[in-house]
Order: sequence, then C-alpha cells, then structure tokens
Amino acid sequence: MKALQEKILTDGIVLSDTVLKVDTFLNHQMDPVLMKEIGEEFGKRFEKEGITKILTIESSGIAPAIMAALKLNVEMVFARKRKSLTLQDGLITSKVYSFTKKEENEISVAEKFILPIDRVLIIDDFLANGQAALGLMDIVKKAGADVGGVGIVIEKAFQDGGRLVRETGVKVESLARIESLKGGQVTFVPTKQG
Ligand code: G4P
Ligand code: NA
Ligand code: NA
Repeated sequence: MKALQEKILTDGIVLSDTVLKVDTFLNHQMDPVLMKEIGEEFGKRFEKEGITKILTIESSGIAPAIMAALKLNVEMVFARKRKSLTLQDGLITSKVYSFTKKEENEISVAEKFILPIDRVLIIDDFLANGQAALGLMDIVKKAGADVGGVGIVIEKAFQDGGRLVRETGVKVESLARIESLKGGQVTFVPTKQG
C-alpha cells in the first residue's frame, strides 16, 4: 500500500536493526485519513472471505481494526491484555509471550462475542514474532469459530512471525512488508502490492 509506505518513509524512525518507531500515525498519535485508507485496503483484500467479525488486540490494533470493520460492515472486538473489572466470567483466554518485551500476557475475549458461526478476520498493527496473531487465532479456535484471515498493517518480514502464521495455512495480508531496517534505512519487500 503506497500511501502507507510513503508515511513510513517520511515519519518512521529506525530505532535499531529490528525496531521501527511509528508513533506519529499508528502507535501513539493516530492519523485518521491514513487509517481510513488502511481500513478500505483491508476491506478490499478480505471482501471475498465471508468475514462476520473482526478481532484485534488492544491498544494499537484497535484503530485499523475498527476502520476495516466499518468497511466490511461487521462488528469488531478487541482482546484485552488485563482482566477488566466488569469482565470476569465467560472469558476465552490465551497466553502470549512477547520476545520483544520478554514477558507473558494473558489475553482474553468474552465468549459471547465470538460464536461458532463466526468467520473472523484478525487485524493487528505489527507482525514481528507472530505471538499476538497466534494467540488471537487460538482464541478463535477455542470459540469454535473459523479464522478467515490475518491482516497486518506493518510486517517485519525479517522476523519469524510471517512464516509461522502463514504455515498454519491462513491467508495473511500485510499492507507494508519491511525487508530490512539495517543501517537506519527502511527497505520494503519488493512486490507489486507493497
Ligand atoms: P509479536 O506479537 O509479533 O510476537 O510481537 P512482539 O511480542 O515482538 O511485540 C510486542 C509489542 O511490540 C506489540 O505491541 C507489537 O505491536 C510491538 N512491536 C513489535 N515490533 C515493533 C516495531 O518494530 N515497532 C513498533 N512500533 N512496535 C513493535 P503492544 O505491546 O501490544 O503495544 P500496543 O498494541 O499497545 O501498541
Ligand atoms: Na503495537
Ligand atoms: Na498490537
């Protein structure tokens, strides 16, 4: 997705060979115009998949997920990383280990929000080691529903997540695929779609 690649090149800050900071439009401040385009692009890429629900994880997945949900005319639910005061019974949970943060989080979704008849599109802001996406897929499976695809805003293709998630056979669409962050430079995987 060209507008996203351009935004990454103008605003992205390469913090190290593995970490890209995008807090001007995705992870802290958010750009509604770009986010709307991101939702429309996810909509296009998954419109034939029979999606009935979108699932993401708080917090940065919520904006792209709600825009995609608007486009696909379905509801969106976000997994919580912490137990909520009012949400306690009837939870589906999964453990997600973050290699970046070296901590394990239990993520949860109320079971009433994902039904066995659902075909769920999973959306997230970053795909790095794939643990968040795999955890969300685990929740969908525990709900007895199907995963209709995984949509990612920025995939770091030099890390393992893309391979791990695609190996499950699910359709993965990443709007920007970064091949390398070496030398302070963002290089995209060369494809016709970006
Ligand atoms: P994984 O799910 O792919 O295994 O990712 P990992 O544990 O490595 O990532 C932990 C957190 O760091 C996630 O956000 C993820 O989106 C984010 N992250 C990973 N790599 C990058 C990167 O290069 N740049 C930025 N900006 N973020 C990265 P989170 O803790 O869930 O936070 P949030 O959703 O509240 O923003
Ligand atoms: Na994030
Ligand atoms: Na995220």
